[in-house]
Amino acid sequence: MTPTAELEQLLSEAVALINQAASPDALEHVRVTFLGRKSRLTEIMRSLPTLSSEERAQTGKHANQFKAAIETCLAQRRDALAAAPVAAPLDVTLPGSAVAHGRLHPITQTIEAILAVFTPMGFEIVEGPEMEFEYYNFDALNIPKDHPSRESFDTFFVDLPSPDPAKGRLLLRSHTSPVQIRMMERCRPPLRIVVPGKVYRPDPLDPSHSFMFHQVEGLMVDSRITFAHLKGVLDAFLKALFGPATKTRFRPHFFPFTEPSAEVDIACASCDGTGCSTCGRKGWIEIMGCGMVHPHVFKAVGYDPAKVQGFAFGMGVERIAMLKHGIKDIRLFFENDLRFLEQF
Ligand code: DAH
Repeated sequence: MTPTAELEQLLSEAVALINQAASPDALEHVRVTFLGRKSRLTEIMRSLPTLSSEERAQTGKHANQFKAAIETCLAQRRDALAAAPVAAPLDVTLPGSAVAHGRLHPITQTIEAILAVFTPMGFEIVEGPEMEFEYYNFDALNIPKDHPSRESFDTFFVDLPSPDPAKGRLLLRSHTSPVQIRMMERCRPPLRIVVPGKVYRPDPLDPSHSFMFHQVEGLMVDSRITFAHLKGVLDAFLKALFGPATKTRFRPHFFPFTEPSAEVDIACASCDGTGCSTCGRKGWIEIMGCGMVHPHVFKAVGYDPAKVQGFAFGMGVERIAMLKHGIKDIRLFFENDLRFLEQF
């Protein structure tokens, strides 16, 4: 076989081995075999001086082409191996990589659970602005000018000129009750609404206070509405939320916008009313405020208190979520620590 023919055969062998090589080490092995000091190529180059000048020129040229072709091939394969992902053997017993599921914040879940009790009773969900006029937050709700909650330390006032000075200064609403007024101004009775939303109070942060928290407000107005309707609706609501065995109690209280007014307690589920640390030894846990809409409130929105009656209620969402889940610190809701949030 002529050296040229032999080189051609070696080239096709080398190309096949290069394309099969699966690692840089394997490629190096192929390079040493075909181009190294002990390769056929080196032998052929060494024998060149023994050849006739014509053969020497031919064989030398082919040997150089052979070397260049193999080097090109090696370089291409090296690049291809570097670009390819390392093929790890598939181990089907390895634990899979879990896909994290998103979920609703526990406060959102609690608001949805509360609203889900009222909507089948015919209550419509409405919302109102978080930045309010003094008029809606206080005056129209029969909260007199000298009432302590008017003092700036109880309410965040907004340092902007009021766009409607007749409605007083701007503030961050301290409760959701102003939405009662906004709805009654817009709609004629009968009316059944629930109002979820954020409220703001300048309280220092501690385990039971936050400068921002959530409330759900309720209002029902019609002719011939009595306190019995109020008790029936709220008792059914609390049994739906905390379980059918939940005991409720209505305790006289004062709110400027309702008369009579009451606070609603549920019997402490931890001690069944006998007194423990959850209920502060009282056996009962205060859960919401309520009452019959004050005639002054109806007058403020142009309703005739002789013709319509209504009841209203308001509750703190964080407080309810804390009771439902045994959470002892309100700040957990706002720190957004995934170890907390992932439990809901
Ligand atoms: N607005 C009251 C508060 O923030 C809660 C409340 C009590 C709302 C009685 C009502 C109600 O509608 O009738 O403390």
